[in-house]
Amino acid sequence: MAKIPVVLDCDPGHDDAVALVLAASVCDLVAVTTLAGNVGLAHTTRNALGLVQLLELDVPVHSGAAGPLTGVGVADASHVHGESGLEGATFPATLSVTVSSDDAVGHLIDTARAVDGLWVVATGPLTNVAQAMQRDPGFAARLGGIAIMGGGTFGNVTPVAEFNVHYDPEAAAVVLGSDAGIPVLMCGLDLTHQVLVSDELVAQVAALPNRFGPFAAGFLGAYLANVRARTGSDHDAALHDPCAVLALTHPELFEMRARHVSVETTGSLTRGMTVVDRRPWTKGGNVQWAERIDAPAALDVIVAAIAAAP
Ligand code: RIB
Ligand code: CA
Repeated sequence: MAKIPVVLDCDPGHDDAVALVLAASVCDLVAVTTLAGNVGLAHTTRNALGLVQLLELDVPVHSGAAGPLTGVGVADASHVHGESGLEGATFPATLSVTVSSDDAVGHLIDTARAVDGLWVVATGPLTNVAQAMQRDPGFAARLGGIAIMGGGTFGNVTPVAEFNVHYDPEAAAVVLGSDAGIPVLMCGLDLTHQVLVSDELVAQVAALPNRFGPFAAGFLGAYLANVRARTGSDHDAALHDPCAVLALTHPELFEMRARHVSVETTGSLTRGMTVVDRRPWTKGGNVQWAERIDAPAALDVIVAAIAAAP
C-alpha cells in the first residue's frame, strides 16, 4: 500500500525524535517543520537537522515559530529534554544538512497545494499549523488530515493542561476550531501514557546492530532518567509523539471515538486545558479522540523503524 505523504511539524524533543524516525519509515515523509516548544527554535531545529543527517534522509527542514501566537513567553520543557532539547544525543559539531528556509508556515501552505492527500502530523505546539490556517484560509481543507499529539483529560504542565496545548492554547483553539471537514486525529495524554519507555525498551534498542539504535538508546535513556528525576519514582516515561504518527498509519492499533474537544484560553487555573466531551449521549465531534492503543504492538512498530534506520 502506498505510504501516506506527511509533513512532521515538531519540537525535538526526545519523543519527537522517535516520531521522526518512525515517520521516515512508515510514511512518505516529505518535509520536517520545526518550532519552539520543548526548547527554543534554534535547538529544536538543530536537533531536527542532526536527526535528518544521521538518518540519511533526503527531506527538507524548515524552521518556523519562535514562540506562541500571543508572543507571551511560556516555560519550555528543558527540565525533561535537557538544555539542548535532546539530552543524551551528540551530533557532529558541524552538520552538513542545513535548514531549507525559516518559513515553515509558507512551506506547509505550498506543500498542501502541491501534494494531494498531504497529512500534517503535529507533535509540538500548534503554532505553525494555526498560522498556516490564518495565512491561507483554504489550507486546512486541502489536507488529507491532521494528526495531533496534544491535550488530555489531565495535564502534565498543570493538573489540567498538557504541554503542547499549554504552550500555545490560542493556536490549539484555532486548529481545533477550524471545521475544515478533514479528519483530525488527536492523541492526548490519556492515550500516550499507555506507550512507555522502559529500561527494557532502552536495552532492546541499544542492542540493535545498526548505528541509530545505540544512538537512540542514548537519548531515550537520558529522557527516562529526567522523567524519573522529576516524578521522583521508577515510573516509566511516556512515548508521546510517535502515537500521533501511528494513529495515521496503524489505525488498527487504536480505539478512537468522535468527541468534541475545546480549549480553555482564559481560565486563571485552567488555561491550556482541553475540555473533552465524554458524555455518552453526545454525538459526533471535531476530532477522532484516541482512547486505547495496543501498546506492545505499537512499540514493535517503533523498534522496527529504529532498526530499519542506518
Ligand atoms: O506533553 C507531551 C508533549 O510535549 C510531547 O510532544 C513532548 O515532546 C512535548 O512537546
Ligand atoms: Ca513534541
